[in-house]
Amino acid sequence: MRRHALTAAALAGALALAGCGGSGDGKPELAVGASYMPQPVSAEMAAGFLTITNDSGTKDELTSVTSDAAGQVTLHETAGGAMREVSSFPVPAHGRLVFKSGGNHLMFENLKHQPKQGDTITLRLKFAESGTVTVEMPVKSATYNPSTDPMTDPSAGHSTGHSTGH
Ligand code: CU
Repeated sequence: MRRHALTAAALAGALALAGCGGSGDGKPELAVGASYMPQPVSAEMAAGFLTITNDSGTKDELTSVTSDAAGQVTLHETAGGAMREVSSFPVPAHGRLVFKSGGNHLMFENLKHQPKQGDTITLRLKFAESGTVTVEMPVKSATYNPSTDPMTDPSAGHSTGHSTGH
């Protein structure tokens, strides 16, 4: 009997502790910001950039991206000056996944029509834990760069990197 009483008390304590955890179900809390697409130089493909912030203690993973504006959206990373397609990107706990010119980027392929400055592209980010997050991505000028880094030329990098395929 004494053993049963102890077990019940320990169980009650564990439940109370879980209830105090803050974000309840333990899901990642993602916020997407700073999204933009530089107006592409061709109707073939375009690059997109954004930042995903995870304010929770649970890591997540970006597994795919889709958009009505493109037949396909692929995930690319840049390593050693060359870009390559990857199947997913991790979103670390209490961290950020950053897409920026010269680094990670989204590639919009088989565009339905050439995006123009002032347009808005709707895309859906799919995460392993958080499900689908919809983003409205504004199309900026071809030379737009939020970091204002004069050494970065997104259009030049893409025309060379993608002409040979992956
Ligand atoms: Cu690329």
